[in-house]
Amino acid sequence: MAKLVSQLYSWCVRFAKKKPNAFFTVVVTALFVYLVFTGYMLCCKYPLLELPRVPSSYVLDFNGQTLYELDFNESQNLTQVRKSCKEQINFVFIKGMKCATSTLLGVFYRFGYTRNLSFVSPLNDKMYLNWPFPMTRRSFRPSGRGYNILTDHAVYTESVMEAIMPKDTLYISIIREPFAQLKSVFQYFKVAKISGVPANVSSPVDEYFAHLERYEKAYTDHGAKYRWCVPDGFSMTRNLLSHCHGMPLGFPPGSEDVSNSTAAIDRYIEHLDRKFSLVMIVEYFYESLVLLRRLMCWGFKDILFINANIAKYDFQTNKIKPETMEAHRNWSNADYRFYRYFNKTLWGHISRQGPRFFEEVKEFKIVESLVQDYCQTIYAIGKRSVYPSNVSETVIPQSVWTDQFTVTPNDCWMLGPNPYELLHQVQREHDVREAALLAEWNKIPDNRTENMKSTC
Ligand SMILES: *[C@@H]1O[C@H](CO)[C@@H](O)[C@H](O)[C@H]1NC(C)=O
Ligand SMILES: *[C@@H]1O[C@H](CO)[C@@H](O)[C@H](O)[C@H]1NC(C)=O
Ligand SMILES: *[C@@H]1O[C@H](CO)[C@@H](O)[C@H](O)[C@H]1NC(C)=O
Ligand SMILES: *[C@@H]1O[C@H](CO)[C@@H](O)[C@H](O)[C@H]1NC(C)=O
Ligand SMILES: *[C@@H]1O[C@H](CO)[C@@H](O)[C@H](O)[C@H]1NC(C)=O
Ligand SMILES: *[C@@H]1O[C@H](CO)[C@@H](O)[C@H](O)[C@H]1NC(C)=O
Ligand SMILES: *[C@@H]1O[C@H](CO)[C@@H](O)[C@H](O)[C@H]1NC(C)=O
Ligand SMILES: *[C@@H]1O[C@H](CO)[C@@H](O)[C@H](O)[C@H]1NC(C)=O
Ligand SMILES: *[C@@H]1O[C@H](CO)[C@@H](O)[C@H](O)[C@H]1NC(C)=O
Repeated sequence: MAKLVSQLYSWCVRFAKKKPNAFFTVVVTALFVYLVFTGYMLCCKYPLLELPRVPSSYVLDFNGQTLYELDFNESQNLTQVRKSCKEQINFVFIKGMKCATSTLLGVFYRFGYTRNLSFVSPLNDKMYLNWPFPMTRRSFRPSGRGYNILTDHAVYTESVMEAIMPKDTLYISIIREPFAQLKSVFQYFKVAKISGVPANVSSPVDEYFAHLERYEKAYTDHGAKYRWCVPDGFSMTRNLLSHCHGMPLGFPPGSEDVSNSTAAIDRYIEHLDRKFSLVMIVEYFYESLVLLRRLMCWGFKDILFINANIAKYDFQTNKIKPETMEAHRNWSNADYRFYRYFNKTLWGHISRQGPRFFEEVKEFKIVESLVQDYCQTIYAIGKRSVYPSNVSETVIPQSVWTDQFTVTPNDCWMLGPNPYELLHQVQREHDVREAALLAEWNKIPDNRTENMKSTC
């Protein structure tokens, strides 16, 4: 080694003596390349390595509208910082299908119901706000006191939502790795059966993508049976996440379609980034919830959730053919761009939270598992008016991240195991409170044409 270095050294000396100008140029060029390379690695390649000086916390501006982050340093009292912001109660939550959304439905319904807030509530006993069609002014119950929360299945419909929601409304949503989401949709919506994939094939998803055109046509066809809430002509395998976020993708038939233009897709994604304060990611569920808590200035109790299956959301593709995944990436291109973009913004948010963010995530996981165990005990006992005294509540102790609070059987029943019970309860109470308004409103004819009306 030493020999090599000394040889190299004497070679350099000879070169410098023989051709000083050439030697100088080589040295300067090498130095320049080195600087540019390290600069690039530091700034663009590893932005996450660059931890900020101090942890920060979300706050709203004086209009309660735009969002900025309050820097605070380690020596400041975290409890005080946590209490210095104001709880955000007005929000719209958009969800992709099969993205841990009934889990979050329980979270948001419990939040709003316990605070007597007003929901944008689907008509009759429906569960969708005209999904997968754009929302219209005729897709929800009228309310004499305005609205605070929109959380049922809806396509992000900017004009309608901005018209009915308060000025300081925050827009949030959740998405999932597109292939993992595809598999879940495929199973839940029985796509293989409806499109006529033979029951004896070993991998229905591979079979579907091997003959995409044929099965897609069969699935979306007018004659297709058992499609439940999905209307004719609507694809459940293509760009579903982007569709739910209002990207113009040619549905309803005849409307604008940007799916062939990556530039137009990216422009829409950037537009969403300006409108949405937080796009959560199923693969980073706990981190997303802690970001949500900080953004909304909520407490731990407000982000507790019930879903026994949440740990199973890892991305399993072992048995799927690589060609199938490539075909889906081509077919559902907008969703992949969408996911990649917002996975990056999520980690950008996280990196700006500082190192104590992960302490908070860790603590929240502990609290969540206590609550999960407690509520499973309650569900096992069943609904009662009085519970045995050793399970009548569970107490979560105080820490820098939370005040002490209790969780009761009632909280468990609001969060799960079926969060739709609370949705229907809200609908019934809404009708009692707004009976007069509803009677007037029912006289206005529903002029949505049949091909613009959701059945669910
Ligand atoms: C950190 O916060 C404390 C308490 O507010 C303050 O006294 C101190 O000057 C701050 N330090 C820095 C480096 O900002
Ligand atoms: C932080 O602030 C809270 C509430 O203002 C107070 O009760 C607590 O004692 C403070 N903690 C420290 C370490 O100063
Ligand atoms: C909920 O709020 C409405 C209107 O703001 C009010 O009329 C009603 O009494 C409240 N209900 C409860 C239980 O506080
Ligand atoms: C599946 O069943 C069809 C007829 O029902 C048959 O023609 C085909 O060979 C079977 N395929 C496999 C892989 O068993
Ligand atoms: C997108 O491209 C495909 C294939 O080139 C074509 O069949 C389709 O009509 C195009 N769609 C639009 C909306 O331009
Ligand atoms: C995906 O798209 C690329 C580029 O358009 C094409 O070369 C490739 O064959 C496509 N793959 C599949 C499986 O359709
Ligand atoms: C999301 O982003 C993180 C951080 O950049 C990266 O490590 C991870 O692989 C991405 N997740 C997925 C599922 O693409
Ligand atoms: C509560 O008490 C009952 C009987 O007294 C016991 O069977 C049960 O395991 C206890 N439950 C918990 C969660 O401690
Ligand atoms: C439907 O009714 C609303 C008001 O009730 C009206 O503003 C709208 O123009 C009507 N739309 C059509 C297509 O008639």
